[in-house]
Amino acid sequence: GIDISSLRKETGLVTLDEGFVNTGSTRSAITFLNGEEGVLRYRGYAIEELAANCDFVEVAYLLIYGDLPNEAQIKEFREGIRDHTMIHEDMRSFYNGFPRDAHPMAILSSVVGALSTFYQDSMDPADKEQVEISIYRLLAKLPTIAAYSYKKSVGQPFMYPNNSLDYCENFLHMMFATPANEHMVDPDFAEALNLLLIVHADHEQNCSTSTVRMVGSSNANLFASISAGIGALWGPLHGGANEACVNMLEQIAADGGDVEKYVRMAKDKTDGFRLMGFGHRVYKNFDPRATIIRKSCDKLLAKLNLDDPLFKIAQQLEQVALEDDYFKDRNLYPNVDFYSGVIYRALGIPVQMFTVLFAIGRLPGWIAHWSEMHSSPSKRINRPRQIYTGSTEREFKPLSDRN
Ligand code: ACO
Repeated sequence: GIDISSLRKETGLVTLDEGFVNTGSTRSAITFLNGEEGVLRYRGYAIEELAANCDFVEVAYLLIYGDLPNEAQIKEFREGIRDHTMIHEDMRSFYNGFPRDAHPMAILSSVVGALSTFYQDSMDPADKEQVEISIYRLLAKLPTIAAYSYKKSVGQPFMYPNNSLDYCENFLHMMFATPANEHMVDPDFAEALNLLLIVHADHEQNCSTSTVRMVGSSNANLFASISAGIGALWGPLHGGANEACVNMLEQIAADGGDVEKYVRMAKDKTDGFRLMGFGHRVYKNFDPRATIIRKSCDKLLAKLNLDDPLFKIAQQLEQVALEDDYFKDRNLYPNVDFYSGVIYRALGIPVQMFTVLFAIGRLPGWIAHWSEMHSSPSKRINRPRQIYTGSTEREFKPLSDRN
């Protein structure tokens, strides 16, 4: 019943690509990826080299400013971040208002959004000096805000940041120390977390990054844009996959640990069940991030020697993927979410915090894209078109004439 020819006259030529499968939304010089060959580079540097040689703060600098820092630059950057790790004392009282069982991603996006109520000088994206301070504030405060959301959920007192520790150690300290127990951070735990943050730091125009650019394109401030990105990341189709993976491993364990049964279910298409943590839309040969963190996963599990049935199930599933023709024929390998879920669990991080960790890792990517968009000479507000499928013009009837 739709008169397409009259609509076409009204709207002009519009291309339709639902889900943006083939449509580039922007030019970008930040991250290169080639899914066929399993290549991922930040600012031209191979992810493998960055993971082997840098810490997360250095990678954040690279993504945001475009080049690897020299010694003086990284020193200044680290000190600048350390200066801002505390959150305003009044902000702590926000946490009293959230229900104890609130999802930490909901707390994270709310409190990050609220940063613009405390730093009202930061509203103008064209004010370079204020944007710079906002970048430091975000990088410094996100781990504090995140760790407080966990402390709230377990009813423990908040731990102030300890600025003598590095970025990852400090986060683990705020998560697991209590006033009664100083909790010495295990360097292997900090190293595993550092790798996870690096491999999550950017992935070009994914859903949350596109959201940050979209919101930022209206000249909304950086805090509001990042808060929107956190909302986008929360969805189970995006940042929530590692949580789904551990839930699946738990389900297999509760069901007697029969891995073969779940593999059969995944191959049988009738019930729609898939093995979580296997396959990737872009990486069709291997996921380079998974290759990097798999080693860290093995090292951590060997060191901890934990008697957790989930780890055995994970190892058996991985074995299946390498040997089974169904998985081989379709190029289905464990992806980054498969191993990241297992590592987070080994680190003692509760499942609800997994996506929060992803947000801490992705923050430099979001900031880099927001800044790149604002410095582009062709910057315009993002305003997609649509193909209208509703009614053509209708005759209006007054209320008394409608049946
Ligand atoms: N288990 C069993 N079979 C699978 C799986 C899986 N995990 N993934 C894909 N397949 C099969 C499909 O049934 C299909 O088979 P067919 O050719 O016989 O019909 C074939 O492999 C291709 O699958 P598609 O759905 O076309 O692959 P697509 O690229 O669209 O999907 C995706 C990729 C969404 C990641 C998919 O592999 C999947 O659902 N995986 C499980 C969820 C998951 O781990 N997501 C996290 C991805 S990583 C990240 O987001 C950071």
